[in-house]
Amino acid sequence: MREAYQRSWQASIDDPQGFWLDAAKAVDWFDAPESAYSEKAGWFPGASLNTCYNCVDRHVAAGRGDGVALIYDSPVTDTTRSWSYAQLLEEVGRVAAMLARLGVEKGDRIVLYMPMVPETLFAMLACARLGAVHSVVFGGFAPHELAKRIDDAAPKLVLTASCGIEGSRTIAYKPMVDQALKLASHAVAHVVLLQRDRLMADINAPRDIDWAALREDTAGDSLPDCAPVASDDPLYILYTSGTTGTPKGVVRENGGHAVALAWSMANIYGIGAGDVFWAASDVGWVVGHSYIVYAPLLVGATTILFEGKPIGTPDAGTFWRTIARHAVKIFFTAPTAIRAVRKEDSEAAFMKETGTGPLQAIFLAGERADPDTIAWLEEKSGLPVIDHWWQTELGWPAIATCFAMGDTRRRPGSAGFPVPGWNFAVLGDDGRVLGAEQSGNIAIREPLPPGAFRALWNNPERYAKSFSGFPGYYETGDAGHFDSDGFLHIMGRTDDIINVAGHRLSTGQMEQIVAQVPGVAECAVIGADDPVKGMVPLAFIVPRADISDASALAAAAIAAVRAELGAVAALRKAYVVAQLPKTRSGKILRALLRTIANGKDYTIPATIEDPAAADVIAGAIASESTPA
Ligand code: COA
Ligand code: AMP
Repeated sequence: MREAYQRSWQASIDDPQGFWLDAAKAVDWFDAPESAYSEKAGWFPGASLNTCYNCVDRHVAAGRGDGVALIYDSPVTDTTRSWSYAQLLEEVGRVAAMLARLGVEKGDRIVLYMPMVPETLFAMLACARLGAVHSVVFGGFAPHELAKRIDDAAPKLVLTASCGIEGSRTIAYKPMVDQALKLASHAVAHVVLLQRDRLMADINAPRDIDWAALREDTAGDSLPDCAPVASDDPLYILYTSGTTGTPKGVVRENGGHAVALAWSMANIYGIGAGDVFWAASDVGWVVGHSYIVYAPLLVGATTILFEGKPIGTPDAGTFWRTIARHAVKIFFTAPTAIRAVRKEDSEAAFMKETGTGPLQAIFLAGERADPDTIAWLEEKSGLPVIDHWWQTELGWPAIATCFAMGDTRRRPGSAGFPVPGWNFAVLGDDGRVLGAEQSGNIAIREPLPPGAFRALWNNPERYAKSFSGFPGYYETGDAGHFDSDGFLHIMGRTDDIINVAGHRLSTGQMEQIVAQVPGVAECAVIGADDPVKGMVPLAFIVPRADISDASALAAAAIAAVRAELGAVAALRKAYVVAQLPKTRSGKILRALLRTIANGKDYTIPATIEDPAAADVIAGAIASESTPA
């Protein structure tokens, strides 16, 4: 009911201390919090806990050891396996013993470059158990990006697997780790390698250690206890794209994270002990951290770790079959995945065949959900499809419809209402608070609620920058407006971050890479609309005068982005053009490039240096003669 939501939101703003202290009761503490917030120590100052204990041990201690904690459903290896909470405790304990044997202690960083296999989840929880700080790097990033993260986090170990399986392809991970470690200046003590049957990797002893052998060696070791950590001790670092080529290491603290995620399960998704929750994302992203690993386990629910794609593994029915087979209650995915399914099965024949079991609602996030996709999914499933919005920095949904409070209000094109704890304002560029229907910068009043970031690893200046544009507010980097009924509409970014298939990427970073390709005089990379991926990057390149082979240059630029940033960048088109549209002061008119690339009518801005430049771009796109 909207009243329950409104009361809750108001209480969280009027009395955040009382609101969050109450929410903190859902977590087991070694030292319980006496107050909710202090500016210096953040959320739950002076309190201590262990996140792994809260996700695993306490459910076993409460007599729910037989409940199913984890289902690994892997159409790409034709495997389905489940672990009870008692079995999960054993597995996590074993990995914790392995890490302890290698000298891992509280505060040490561990980088994981792992596919969607159960060992990844065991290892994340094992780090949490020891008070170590994991940093999971998404498998689609290239060695160069992995190296940057290794240098920044300075981990004691890297955990990896011999391969990832992406649809029908097997991707060798270990050579990428080897290359990253060559590129990095930081030296790790060991690489622990999980061999997968599909593709075995070379082991370079003594640096590399075989996962299975280490597990066997430590089989007799006692299971390490859960280390008490302070509420503001880091649980993990997760790197995300910023506006520069250097990724931002978002630091997540233990206490606020556990409280906020537990609250979100009960009050947004309506998930508790015994329920089955599925977030079809990847553990390399924040959605995977929060809603594949931590949140479902914090509340004693069953989580699904799905190693597959929405289509092609084996077909566009895989989502619905998985939902029906495991009796999923709430499903969470990205709009791009639904668009991919719809493209292959526009009548939802697969869904008709399997049904959706006890599914109650479908949540979407990660990128703007276009109204057409929502309407299609609601019509075909007969279920509420709830768009909601958040960011890596924030850790859990900040705009949503609180379905679990009985609120089902939805408006296509809007991500919902501010979630309790989050106090939003739409600000003009001059910092004035704008009224309903007025578009501006989406900002959130400080302090941010529990779970949101309070630091960037090694980078206090960059952290401070997120709060300095509009004093008293966190600047989300998104633009949008409240409508007159209080729905918040997110319309796009105010910077050069784009979302490609739900993956957050920086066009600025791609530009830096393309600019270094020999023969490139100048370039711009922008995000253009795409019917499935939401957005895709496009590069526009002005060649140096001595370059005659335009298609070779375009191909080199595409290859460079793939090699340096990774396959995930999905830069597939580079146009070689005679000039870029620029202002007289030399600024590239990226908004104009976007408009032209999206095939929309464009007006030539008065500030343009050479009006013909816009037609040059339009001509290149229309002819499609120069893309690689
Ligand atoms: N490890 C290695 N490579 C990976 C990878 C991983 N974990 N994830 C993606 N890649 C690779 C892909 O294989 C692809 O490589 P290619 O260029 O050689 O084909 C490339 O990165 C781009 O991947 P993607 O953008 O995902 O495109 P796709 O065509 O493979 O799949 C979708 C399209 C829509 C099916 C897919 O993007 C998808 O499922 N998206 C949903 C994403 C999501 O859930 N995001 C979480 C946010 S909540
Ligand atoms: P990430 O940090 O990878 O989760 O990406 C966060 C960014 O994705 C946000 O700043 C938005 O630009 C975009 N985003 C996430 N969810 C939504 C949504 N529901 N609607 C519109 N944009 C979204």
